[in-house]
Amino acid sequence: MMPLLKVDMNIFETILARRSIRCYKARMVDIVTVHILLEAAVKAPTAMHQEPWAFIVIQDKKLMQKLSNRAKPLFLKKVAARQDNSAHYNNMLDAFSNPDFNIFYNAGTLILICGKKTAHSFEADCWLAAENMMLAACAMGLGTCVIGSALPAFNDPEVEIQLGISNEFSVVVPITLGYPNEDIAPSVRNSPLILSSFVAT
Ligand SMILES: Cc1cc2nc3c(=O)[nH]c(=O)nc-3n(C[C@H](O)[C@H](O)[C@H](O)COP(=O)(O)O)c2cc1C
Repeated sequence: MMPLLKVDMNIFETILARRSIRCYKARMVDIVTVHILLEAAVKAPTAMHQEPWAFIVIQDKKLMQKLSNRAKPLFLKKVAARQDNSAHYNNMLDAFSNPDFNIFYNAGTLILICGKKTAHSFEADCWLAAENMMLAACAMGLGTCVIGSALPAFNDPEVEIQLGISNEFSVVVPITLGYPNEDIAPSVRNSPLILSSFVAT
């Protein structure tokens, strides 16, 4: 049973406040808190009640550094074919080529949401679980960031063996977690694009 939590924000305030956090304090998130977040994750909607998710919790900075080193060249290889000359793309290439850049932003905790590949909509379910977890973390004063650029590494057979990921599962969402060491203003987004609207008269 999930312990009762005291949070300062209601759900809408939390949705507005959540940002991707890329700078973390050294303080480690304790494992009880991590388990509370996993409980929030598994309350997400799930196609055909399949609950295809499974989790890997990494709180080992040396391992995360190794995974970051493995991920950077694999990601660069994956995106190399893109014909993109934008500043954003070039900045990203610069960052990933920098040996000092840790793709997990030196967070103390990395949570991998894995999906059972045979399940009906395992990727959708895992993403819904991810958002539940990130919102719950935000409401608890914690920071998170999805690290999609790590996926080529987590889908590498050698890394899968190292992390104990059986053939049944694949990593769908890597998420860093920690105490934020930066204050980011709520995001500015475009207004919802409404293609059509039908109201019965
Ligand atoms: C599928 C996906 C992959 C992402 N991969 C990365 C990543 O590899 N590194 C990173 O720093 N942020 C990553 N992000 C975070 C986005 O950059 C971030 O959500 C976006 O800039 C909007 O900012 P916000 O989350 O603060 O609102 C990813 C987000 C998504 C949804």
